[in-house]
This record gives sequence, structure tokens and C-alpha cells, in this order.
Amino acid sequence: MKRDFVSIDDLGDDEVRELFRVASEMAPRLREWSHLCPGRILASLFYEPSTRTRLSFESAMSRLGGGVISAPDMRTSSAAKGETLADTVRVVGGSYADIIALRHPAEGSARIAARYADVPVVNAGDGSHEHPTQTLCDLYSLYAEKGRIEGLDVVLCGDLRFSRTVHSFAYALARFGANVALIAHRGFEMPEYVLRRLRDRYRHEPQRLEAEEFGSLASRADAVYFTPQNPHQLSLFTESAVASVAKFDALYVTRPQNERPGAEEREGPYPRIDRGSLSGRFRDTFVMHPLPRMNEIAYDLDQDPRSLYFKQAARGVPVRMALLAFLLGVLELRASPPRPETVGEVVRGRDGGRCPNATCITNVESRYLESEFRVERRAPLRATCALCESVIEVAFVGCSSTRVYHREGSGDVRRIKAEHLVLFDSEDRAKRAGFSAAAR
Ligand code: NCD
Repeated sequence: MKRDFVSIDDLGDDEVRELFRVASEMAPRLREWSHLCPGRILASLFYEPSTRTRLSFESAMSRLGGGVISAPDMRTSSAAKGETLADTVRVVGGSYADIIALRHPAEGSARIAARYADVPVVNAGDGSHEHPTQTLCDLYSLYAEKGRIEGLDVVLCGDLRFSRTVHSFAYALARFGANVALIAHRGFEMPEYVLRRLRDRYRHEPQRLEAEEFGSLASRADAVYFTPQNPHQLSLFTESAVASVAKFDALYVTRPQNERPGAEEREGPYPRIDRGSLSGRFRDTFVMHPLPRMNEIAYDLDQDPRSLYFKQAARGVPVRMALLAFLLGVLELRASPPRPETVGEVVRGRDGGRCPNATCITNVESRYLESEFRVERRAPLRATCALCESVIEVAFVGCSSTRVYHREGSGDVRRIKAEHLVLFDSEDRAKRAGFSAAAR
């Protein structure tokens, strides 16, 4: 069975620890591992710009003795002629390459690629959804500096809505027992689906911090308040909450992701960190960033021992070497794989609604993809897109066998078999799909 790495949860806890052990063995002698993967080929398919991710993947494969075929700008490939992702990865993962690193603007794209390719697929960033290999580098860096992850207090700061790196990183931090706190650029808060996953899978509720105004984060650490329940109710502010974290271990900053649809709503000052920011509870705080930076980290921090971002980027090579060798089956880890994700029932079909996210792969490549929803709970019904994880609003639920629909919340919904469930966001859509109302 091939192993893909699409979400950070595709690796088990011990597998992550083992990969870090291997990466730390590889790091001091990067040129000594070319016996590991001779004859193996990595294809890097990048539908979005990249410097570090693509080059560190390619460098990693070369250092392992393998070869690289690279499509660094898919606008010059057959994708420009309208070829689907499924067809592209079927071909590339046929005789061309033994493993694929994919970066694509649609959320859920890497999971689809993994389904259609015969070789392992590594997600090098799918839209604003996840970026799990960056998380390996980030987590490894934090671990290398602090010697542990458990119990660390880590602040994620900036565009939390569209930064795929913070989504994957938040999951990993919560999973390994760190405490996550959030400072979002106003209007660019952590998406509901990420918060839900943190809550449901890792039992973690991030603290919300609020910088009184982002520009002031630099000089006034005291202007950062804990508001654990509701980020905008300073009345919830209590002395004990403020005192609960004496010092933060890391501040992870991301740039405004202005290339995403919806980013044009951005207004107000974006946080900017400089040496002056690292006082008070931030005095011993490592500053992390996946790069590239815009203006959110001042250059005066680069020489400061608390800045980690260039080290994070450098560690991308040994971490990706370990990962590639593992996924190619060359490296065996003394660790078990994660337990398969079994939350809820998956509902597929063309009858019900589509995912509300226009950049979900099921909408971008609707020619051959059906919508796919995960029903996490029946009563009250809670569903997400199985590919991009967007929260699905359900107003009516149909049964594909009787072709009858029911109002969500009615007792009849629970009686519909999983394979017959059809979700509708409106009554109108149910009618248009040819379903009729349940007799009252
Ligand atoms: C990140 C990305 O592409 O999501 N870059 C990276 O891979 N190091 C972060 C970003 O572009 O902001």
C-alpha cells in the first residue's frame, strides 16, 4: 500500500518522531546519503509560485541520489490547455516518476491527486488548506531548539484564515501537546473548520489573543490580551487569564496571503514584529515564519538569536530527505502508521448541494468530481466537505431511495441510511433535484 502525505495527520506520532531522528542524523552530513534513492525520480508539479518548498524537495531528492523532473510553472504545461489534475498525475505517476510533490491553488487538490496517482503524493500546499511538509520543518525546528513540543506556548499570528502553514502547524502543535494562542489580522481569523478539528480531534481550544492594534504589537506586549471565549469581548479579560502564560516560547508569523480570493477585503495595519516586540512575555520567544516575508518581520531581527526563520528553511532539506526516503519505502521506521480517520459517514453525489467553497477542488474540477461531504453527526446534523473541510450548511436532507426530503432537525433524518443521504442547503435545491417534500 502506498503512503501519501496530504495532511499532517497522515503520519503517526511515532513516525513524526522517527523522521525527526533520521533528519537530525542526515543534517550534519547532507552529502553522504546518495546511496539511498538512486534510480528513483521525484516529479515536482507546481501550479503556484514557490522557492523554498520546490527547491528543497528537489535538493532533497538529489542528495538522496535520485533524479528530479520539474514542472515549476504549470501554466506552461498541458494544464494550460485544460488538462485535469487527475489525468496529469495519472500520467506523471505512471512511468515518469516514483513520487510526486504537488502544489495547487485548489483546496483538496492533493487528496484527489493521491487518489488518482499510482505513486505517493506529497502535498506541497493545497490552496489555503494545508501545507504539511512545512509543518514538519516548523515542528522539527521548534523541537530542535526547545528539546520538546509538549507544554510549549506558541502564538500563531497574522493571516490565519488563508495561511495553510498555520493550519497544519496548529494541528501538529495541538497533537503533540503544545498550547496554541492566536492573534489574527482582523477579519482573517482561524477558519471554523480548523477550530472544530482542533476541538474534536485533539481536544484543544486555542486561546485568542488580541493586539489592541496590530501596529502596536511591536512595542506594547501588554496590549495583547487573553480573551479565551470571545476575541472581541474585552469584558472577559481577567487578571488570572493574563497571568496564565508568563512567557511565550514561539511566535509564528505569516504574511498576508493576498493571492487568495477574499483577501481584497483586507484593511487595517498588519502585525509587524521587530526587536522591540520581543519584550515582556515575548522576551525569550523564538520568532518563526515559513517565508517569504513581506513587512511582518523587520530585518533588524535577522541577526537576533531568537529568529528561527532561516533555520526553518535550511532544515527543509534534511526533513524532506527523511520524508521522501520513507514514502519511497527505502527507509523503514520503527513506528506504526496513524489510525485511519473514521469520523462520520461520507456522502457522495451530484444530487445534493456543492461545496460552498468556490476554490474547493470539487468545484474547480467539477467535470469529473462529485461533491463529497462528511457527516460528522446526525442530530443536529453537522457536515463538512470531505476534501476542503469547509463547513456545510444543511437545511434539508433527502433520501436517494425514496426521493423524499425532510427538514434538517426532524426525526426522520436519523432513519435515512448513510448511503442514501443527500444534503441540501435549501428547499429549492431539493425540489430542483427532483425530490419531494415529506408528508407532514
Ligand atoms: C508558504 C506557503 O507557500 O504557503 N511558503 C512556504 O512554503 N515556505 C508560506 C507563504 O507563502 O506565505
